[in-house]
Amino acid sequence: MTVHFIGAGPGAPDLLTLRGRDLIAACQVCLYAGSLVPRAVLGHCPEGARIVNTAPLDLDAIMAEIGAAHEAGQDVARLHSGDLSVWSAMGEQARRLRASGIPYTVTPGVPAFAAAAASLGTELTLPGLAQSVVLTRTPGRASAMPEGETLAAFAATGATLAIHLSIQNLATVVADLTPHYGGDCPVAIVWRASWPDERIVRATLDTIEQAMDPGISRTALILVGRALAGEGFGESRLYSAGYDRRYRPQTGDSRWAGWTDDGSPA
Ligand SMILES: C[S@@+](CC[C@H](N)C(=O)[O-])C[C@H]1O[C@@H](n2cnc3c(N)ncnc32)[C@H](O)[C@@H]1O
Repeated sequence: MTVHFIGAGPGAPDLLTLRGRDLIAACQVCLYAGSLVPRAVLGHCPEGARIVNTAPLDLDAIMAEIGAAHEAGQDVARLHSGDLSVWSAMGEQARRLRASGIPYTVTPGVPAFAAAAASLGTELTLPGLAQSVVLTRTPGRASAMPEGETLAAFAATGATLAIHLSIQNLATVVADLTPHYGGDCPVAIVWRASWPDERIVRATLDTIEQAMDPGISRTALILVGRALAGEGFGESRLYSAGYDRRYRPQTGDSRWAGWTDDGSPA
């Protein structure tokens, strides 16, 4: 018996990996994390599967579900929205599984920040503008931030910020970031990226609060950074015509001359 943690993606049911789909189809028990897991994904469960929404359960009750499946020798598909590496609560479940000697696997999913960038048609790292993306949040009712992980500290780097779980703190986000990025810095808010009713608001730090759509709450990402403008950046050296590289040696004397198409020595 194995527990399979599966990233269910940002909302669109077809943004699930093939591995995730096949694992769901092979498990007699499916535990899914509330409203953010697309219902259509549950359609991959086999007939007669036990399907449980874990939103109203506490950790002990979730582990009791897993324990019962373990005793019955039934594999469990454990679905969380997006990817499991960020804000999924997989860590605390996995720790209990390790303590109980129950094996588990992890199948990644499409994270919300990647879905939001896709909806914007934007690359978040552009030469000369930003080469780092910070996935972060502001403090919530149940989650304090570790000392040092402040928006101001991240902003000081100039990286592109993908701020989760924070749409209700928009005014604070703007106040903390404006001194570092400037009021003209682009901001995009993507609500329900990849859902049929997705909404996008584009503005600047100076104008985002006025531009904000009052219908947007909860499942939204705030993206901030110069890369969001999609202009004012150079071209990468990777595809520059004169750049000598393994896959495109420029001369017969190149250190890469004679290497094969797959980038290995001939
Ligand atoms: C509990 S976290 C889950 C993050 C998820 N594990 C991931 O990989 O993106 C929930 C937050 O992620 C963001 N989020 C999740 N799905 C989203 C979507 N489809 N569109 C925009 N933001 C989303 C929102 O900031 C939301 O408050």
